[in-house]
Amino acid sequence: MTLPLAIDESAYSLVSPSSSSIPNPETPLKLGVLASGSGSNFEAVAAAIKNGQLNAQIQVLIYNNPSAKVVERAAKWNVPAVLLNHRDFSNREELDLQIIQCLQHYSVDWVIMAGWMRIVTPVLINAFLGKIINIHPSLLPSFKGVKAVEQAIDAGVKITGCTVHLVSPEVDSGTILCQAAVPILPYDTAETLHDRIQIQEHRILPPAIALAANLNLK
Ligand code: GRF
Repeated sequence: MTLPLAIDESAYSLVSPSSSSIPNPETPLKLGVLASGSGSNFEAVAAAIKNGQLNAQIQVLIYNNPSAKVVERAAKWNVPAVLLNHRDFSNREELDLQIIQCLQHYSVDWVIMAGWMRIVTPVLINAFLGKIINIHPSLLPSFKGVKAVEQAIDAGVKITGCTVHLVSPEVDSGTILCQAAVPILPYDTAETLHDRIQIQEHRILPPAIALAANLNLK
């Protein structure tokens, strides 16, 4: 049996546009991050800010799941964390109204949905029009919605990846900012593939935020 070759992640991915072509914003962006789970993308943004790759500050983390690991990451990076548990609200709009209030309280200009597992309503989208960014684990417009990694494996495609895009009322459909391609390998499970996609997510999210800010100025 031939064993699969070790994968060099950088060699096996294609990112567009290249981060070197995206200027860092001149004035610091005030970010609010919405996250529901592990928060590795939150961490990637925080690290990019620390190393100067992204001129920004995370003003607040909003999370909806009391046991989300992202809370520990926020504490580590000294970012205030606010729990807005969707179970405490009778509908999506009420949750979004509370989110808006919190984001405004922390003077947030840009909203980053980094693994926010809730559908946002026009209430939130209109309050931050053109300034909400989402990361999704597929090459949109393929494999929208939940279980995007599994959808790609089931479809038998050989290349998938991740997309950072502006949020519009239709799920996973706004203007695409940045994408990275990731090959699907013969021995991949949803977990192994998602792990490799996440490496690329962490690469493209910070420059995609800078790109959105640049586009917004034009
Ligand atoms: C990422 O794969 C993102 O694309 C999806 O949710 C996941 C969040 O991962 N929307 P993490 O919590 O940032 O580690």
